[in-house]
Amino acid sequence: MGSNVIENIAIIGLGTMGPGMALEFARAGHHVIGFDVNPGAAEASRAVIDATLSTLVEAGHMPEKETGSVKERIRYTDSIESAVENAGVVVEAVSENSTVKQSVFEKIDAHAPEECLVWSNTSTLNIFEMMPEKRLDRTLIAHWFAPPHIIPLVEVVKGGQTSRETLDLTLSLLRGMNKRPIVIEKYVPGFIINRILRNLGREAFFLLDNGYISKEDLDLAIKASIAPRMMVLGLIQRYDFTGLDLSARNLLDENFFDPPVDNRPASLQKNIDAGNLGVKSGRGFYDYTGRNLVDILNDRDKYLLKVMDNLQFCLEKDRLV
Ligand SMILES: NC(=O)c1ccc[n+]([C@@H]2O[C@H](COP(=O)([O-])OP(=O)(O)OC[C@H]3O[C@@H](n4cnc5c(N)ncnc54)[C@H](O)[C@@H]3O)[C@@H](O)[C@H]2O)c1
Repeated sequence: MGSNVIENIAIIGLGTMGPGMALEFARAGHHVIGFDVNPGAAEASRAVIDATLSTLVEAGHMPEKETGSVKERIRYTDSIESAVENAGVVVEAVSENSTVKQSVFEKIDAHAPEECLVWSNTSTLNIFEMMPEKRLDRTLIAHWFAPPHIIPLVEVVKGGQTSRETLDLTLSLLRGMNKRPIVIEKYVPGFIINRILRNLGREAFFLLDNGYISKEDLDLAIKASIAPRMMVLGLIQRYDFTGLDLSARNLLDENFFDPPVDNRPASLQKNIDAGNLGVKSGRGFYDYTGRNLVDILNDRDKYLLKVMDNLQFCLEKDRLV
């Protein structure tokens, strides 16, 4: 089964991630069918996809005349059985909870065609321990990043029994959607990016909670330095330009102490205790009072698309080598 013959995609779970993934498959010409246990989710997904298509057209990322056919390729159903029965790929994007995921995998196993691939969008869970044994060769984690209709990276994590054919098909499907998959050879909690973010967050909360810097200056520092430099050099190639000897000396510098491990940083907990959960509650570290969530997300998408316009050349391989 080649990626060009995989026509039907089932998306299970239409919350934050599902609609954007549905849109990406449909833009690439696949037929998508979505299912969610929440009966209002299909309507909400339609609204999000309509708004996102307008943003993509406005930003010049898609011709308006294509929007109708993209929308026509996305359908919804009210049972998981009918969602998966003709699927070439089932994308699991339900809540990050092992009991919920396990029960969804059992239903997929009972009703999806034997040869179909199963991708899980889990951020951390070892879903290979939850999937019935006989599906493991066609199962992997394909971890997308929000917003999935804009961010190119997909972390593809192999299970111990994932077959070569499953991996190859997955990579070719993702590349056919202009995504940039990377392969993680074996499961590790958090995969790559969330592990790195965990460490960055630990240092950032240490600096905030100990009064070294304001949140505004910390964000400016990142945007005005390592963020653009990382776009050109990534993380590892940057060491070549710093000099490996200097990098080694910096690591050995005993004055440069590491932040203590604190998995309940005060600045985060203080906000949570006050009900400030981020954009979804109108306030997090910053105050979004008076703005509605859809407008905030659309503005974020517009700015991201502007950045993406210049991104492609940064993603080319072996630049500067
Ligand atoms: N939000 C992110 O930024 C992000 C990024 C990458 C990966 N993920 C991962 O993607 C998955 C989904 O995340 P999300 O943020 O979209 O979650 P979400 O909570 O926004 O949405 C989950 C959806 O799953 C539905 N659902 C729950 N049980 C179900 C069932 N049995 N059958 C069908 N639908 C069911 C819920 O009704 C909800 O609409 C999680 O595994 C998460 O870790 C999230």
